[in-house]
Amino acid sequence: MNPSGIHDGGAHRRGERLRVRTVEILDDAVVLIDQRSLPLEERYVRCLTWRDVAARISDMTVRGAPAIGVAAAGALALAGREAALRDDDVDAFRGGLAEASAGLAATRPTAVNLTWAIDEMSAVWRSWTGSPQSCASALLARARAIHDDDIDRCRRIGAHGATLFGAGARILTHCNAGALATAGYGTALGVIRSVFAEHPDISVFVDETRPFLQGARLTAWELSVEGIPYRLISDNMAGHFISRGEVGAIVVGADRIAANGDTANKIGTYTLSVLAKEHRVPFYVAAPLTTVDRHITSGAGIPIEERSEDEVTSFAGQRLAPEGARALHPAFDVTPAANIQAIITEVGILRAPYRRSLHAACAEGKCIS
Ligand code: MRU
Repeated sequence: MNPSGIHDGGAHRRGERLRVRTVEILDDAVVLIDQRSLPLEERYVRCLTWRDVAARISDMTVRGAPAIGVAAAGALALAGREAALRDDDVDAFRGGLAEASAGLAATRPTAVNLTWAIDEMSAVWRSWTGSPQSCASALLARARAIHDDDIDRCRRIGAHGATLFGAGARILTHCNAGALATAGYGTALGVIRSVFAEHPDISVFVDETRPFLQGARLTAWELSVEGIPYRLISDNMAGHFISRGEVGAIVVGADRIAANGDTANKIGTYTLSVLAKEHRVPFYVAAPLTTVDRHITSGAGIPIEERSEDEVTSFAGQRLAPEGARALHPAFDVTPAANIQAIITEVGILRAPYRRSLHAACAEGKCIS
């Protein structure tokens, strides 16, 4: 614990300072940085029940596949605490956790890290033979371990990814796959952080990422905090800069990677991958193995979240389109494996054919079972 009573992740214990604290799992609360108000205001939301956390995942107070998984783990620790306080009956205790698991799983359908974390927590309570109180303590410990493990995976992704880049690298990234999207450090931004540590002369193109502006608001904020040089571009400028040879590589995160390497990520990622292929720019996906879904054979099977039309027709409560305008809002798209140069994971850099390399990596690391 640090002086404010907030649980510190593993990286903090190693004496390193994480400047962005995305999800904190306390004994009686899950604290989230409010990603809807960044970068204008740095405020924190204290969730006291699993339902609070579920609502915050749905409204994107917390977002980014690994961060959602960690928040759900924290939510299930709260559900365990609540159920154990309510009564000693083991069946009622398990019923409470089953209800919370189903409620959390329904919040955002594309990010498979959510399912992964719920399964990890289920493995604890389903096999527990002691009292509900002791199980609640075990759930809290497991949730904290999931939090620390995610930071560790991101750091390893960063170290592997850094080997792909040299001095003066010019990297384009989309959405926010940074410390805010994970328990800390980030995946695609973790790679960029690691490259920057070795080569301070790199520069980053930050796609603004319509309609929620995760790039303009969150990635730009993280890079500013770290002092990493970047330029913000609107999404429709990417082709211009790529075609002029100004982008050396593209690195993005992932919400779900199918067994064949097809990858779902923030809407707009597919377009970038096509541009990358056309202009022979390497296109990398950076993700932990908790994002791999071996049960889905190809991208066609990945559920794509449809979000509200209002997030397209308005921004921050301000209407942009005429009254009555209808919009479409798929939150993610699928990039075919053929467009991906490599997948950067915590166990190394995976190359095509991904069916084979992902299978081997999952044997080594921890994928969804
Ligand atoms: O809708 P969001 O903001 O949750 O989408 C996030 C992304 O698409 C990220 O790129 C992905 O979750 C990877 S985060 C390490």
